[in-house]
Order: sequence, then structure tokens, then C-alpha cells
Amino acid sequence: MKTLLSGDRPSGSLHLGHLLGSLEARVSLQSQFNSYFLIADIQAHTDNYLRPEEIKAFALDLVKDYISVGINPSLSSIVLQSSLTPLLELTQILSHFTNLNHLKQNPTLKTELAQRKVNNLSFLSYPVSQAADILGFGAEVIPVGIDQTPIIEFTNTLAKGINQHFKTTLLSPCEALLSPVSRLKGVDGSSKMSKSMNNCIFLKDSADEVKKKVYKMFTDPSHIHVHQPGKIEGNVVVYFLDILDPRQAELADLKAQYQTGGVADIMLKNRLVDIINARLEPIRAKRKELNDNAYLLNILKQGQADSLSKINKVIKPIKELFYLSL
Ligand code: TRP
Repeated sequence: MKTLLSGDRPSGSLHLGHLLGSLEARVSLQSQFNSYFLIADIQAHTDNYLRPEEIKAFALDLVKDYISVGINPSLSSIVLQSSLTPLLELTQILSHFTNLNHLKQNPTLKTELAQRKVNNLSFLSYPVSQAADILGFGAEVIPVGIDQTPIIEFTNTLAKGINQHFKTTLLSPCEALLSPVSRLKGVDGSSKMSKSMNNCIFLKDSADEVKKKVYKMFTDPSHIHVHQPGKIEGNVVVYFLDILDPRQAELADLKAQYQTGGVADIMLKNRLVDIINARLEPIRAKRKELNDNAYLLNILKQGQADSLSKINKVIKPIKELFYLSL
């Protein structure tokens, strides 16, 4: 069975963009692969190092998010990055092989550096840490968003370079697995649902919060009376219905009617509220059951044990390549 590694930074709660972009795919992939889901707390610290308590809380919350969407800890491992010290040793080794000028040209990093206005060493080198995660696990399949593909390429370049130079096959190549919906717009209609833009519908939002957010969405600003024709281009409610509505044929009729006149915006909005809440309700219900922190910590301990035996198989021989064994 191939090894799959995926993960998230615990720097915020997961939202609808995560659900459609990666979580649902992970749930259906988990039994086909030897799956590890990494709570990348070390990576979260690279731009949140002044708020350790927040990151700890989000890390525990992420365990809840994972389990409540259907990641099953008896089928896959949920693991805390900081609990795997050998990954830090591998990060150190990989950083020797990382050319700084080359790293600074990485499109993922370049965009993030510009957005976040951080310039500390750990943030700059997070792709090296991520490469260590992937190579340390010997992971072959990495389900990520399209914006992360340059990191996967960077990882493969590192692995290839080291394998070639030392004539080994210690590091395995990996492959990005892109989900069909790799980017979801925000509730404000802007290009990406993201915590920093304050435009998310979170998995843990209540039914009422969902309603408030949907009611604030833009429709067609010139569609004032029900009988007027409404525009569907640029209509944020229609955008979300197109993606989420399970009854697409009925939606097509409704959209046609909306464009000729006679359909109120509020009707589209209520339809969307119901659809989102129907999708989130089972997740909310599962989350309510997960209020025992000791249980959640145990899952992480189990994940740590499973992962250590996996990564030590890869990392020990790499250490032996570079260091004296005592
Ligand atoms: N960079 C990922 C994110 O932004 C998190 C992550 C860390 C990751 N290590 C990983 C993803 C390894 C896939 C594989 O959420």
C-alpha cells in the first residue's frame, strides 16, 4: 500500500474551502493508502511564534475537525509534527542542500512572504521542513491544493539531488494529488476563502452563523424587485449553489427563472443556507461528542508511535550516511 501524507497548519479553524478542497478527498482516500495526517504545529509557529497558546489550542481543535469530518483514527494516523523529533534532524540535513536563491524563487513561498510580511529564518525555510515531512515518511502521494505544488517539486528536486550525489535510493519521489475543487471563493466573493480575509464559513459555525454569512452575500445589486431579471454572473450565492447544490437539474431551472425574473434573492439564499447546514450538521454533531481532551491527546500519542516507527526506517540510514553512529 502506498503512503499518503497530508496536513494542515493549526493556525485557525478549518472551513468550507478545506472541506471541499482536501478533507473530503482525504476521507475517501484514507483506506486506499497508508495514511498520515499531520498537524503541522512547527510550521504554524513559523509565522505565529508569539502566540504559542493559540497554536496549541488550534492543534487540539484540528484533531476534532479531522475526526468530525470522517478521518478515522483506526484507519489512519493523526500526528503532531512537533512530536516527531527525527523530522527536525532531517530538516537540518536537507537545509545543507537548499540553495537560498533558489528557495526564494519558489512561487509558493514568494507569494506567502509578500502576503504575510514576515522575514524570519524559520518561515523562509518552511519548505525545507515540509520536504522533511514528506521525505521522512517516504510519502508517495500528497493531496494538496494547487498553490502547494511548487513545494512538492522542490521536495522532489532535493530528493533526486541527494540520491544522485550519494548513489542511493534512500529518498522516495512523491506526487501531488490535486482535488477537483482546489480553491473556493470567500463569502465576500473574493478569490479565496481564507481566515486572514475574514470570509470563511467554518466547519464549526452554528446554523445561525451560516445563515448570517449567507444573508450577507452579494447577489445581483441591480436585482431589486422579484419580478426583475437577475444576473447570475458574479452572483456569489449562485457561485456557491453551483458548487454545493446536490439537485443540479432543479438549480438549472431556478437559475433560468431567476434570469428572466420572478425569483427572489432571499429564496436563493435560503436554499443555500439549507444546503450548507445539511452538509455541516453531521460534522457538528460528531464534533459535539469530542469533548474529552484526554481522548484527543491519546489519538496524537498513537499517531506519534505509528509515525516514529515509520520515519525512523527512512531517517536512520540517512543519518548514518552523514554522521558517525555511536
Ligand atoms: N503546508 C501545509 C499547509 O499549508 C501543511 C503541511 C505541512 C503539509 N507539512 C506537510 C502538507 C506535508 C502536506 C504534506 O497547510
